[in-house]
Amino acid sequence: MRTTTADIRRKKASGERFAAITAYDVVTARLADEAGIPLILVGDSLGMVVLGYDTTIPVRLEDILHHTRAVVRGSSKALIVADLPFMTYQKSAEHALENAGRCLQEGGAQAVKLEGGRAMADTVSQLTSAGIPVMGHIGLTPQSVHQLGGFKAQGKDLARARELLADAIALQEAGAFAIVLECIPAELSKQITARLGIPTIGIGAGPHCDAEIQVVSDTLGWFSDFVPKHAKQYANLSDAAADALRTYVREVEEGAFPTERESISLSEDVLRELEGEGS
Ligand code: KIV
Repeated sequence: MRTTTADIRRKKASGERFAAITAYDVVTARLADEAGIPLILVGDSLGMVVLGYDTTIPVRLEDILHHTRAVVRGSSKALIVADLPFMTYQKSAEHALENAGRCLQEGGAQAVKLEGGRAMADTVSQLTSAGIPVMGHIGLTPQSVHQLGGFKAQGKDLARARELLADAIALQEAGAFAIVLECIPAELSKQITARLGIPTIGIGAGPHCDAEIQVVSDTLGWFSDFVPKHAKQYANLSDAAADALRTYVREVEEGAFPTERESISLSEDVLRELEGEGS
């Protein structure tokens, strides 16, 4: 039985902190599931850390559906949240319903995430009324990178801090089951966390949120082009993989791989026949 959005809400009520992570493929989903992570996000960060784009903006719904199906196949316990890409939910609530519905129906996710606060409250309300659980996302919202003037921390001045608090409350009132707080000051996320009855899930938002989420490629040291300040590398898979590939290349070039151990053999009889035909 998978974790439900009700289980996630209950964690706040019982004061149980939890870790969430992104995943984009079967292997990572299986590892996250086996590590006991209750919420896996198929984030549109896949555009940057898997597909090689500079921002998340080019990611399409088809990309998210494709990777969500893989993550669902690789896991059996975690709640799977599909990230709604840029322009799949902003045009109208009807458009959002159609696309979020596809994430559940075709992707196999149990919930969706979308970026934005008060401006998205009506859409969140319509999605949740239709039975589609929604995770909110405020602060640094990467799909608005051009509006924000870059990947910059948010909520550092009083006016913006007040706006983010109002956004969080509006999302909760609209029915969101949890809210991601990205790159905002720790003191602000502490205030927001204290005011909400649903879990806050921080990323670059300090230690006071109810939960933490990280991009798995940062956590495992897999994507080393850029490591955000808020990330901690618990492994260095990129260096380990580079070493392994260099060793593989050298062994093939030197004839040290493959050996008999990695080969299959003909039976004596077949070999004899074959050699006889050649003579
Ligand atoms: O797409 C993503 O990975 C995200 C997380 C940073 C929360 O939105």
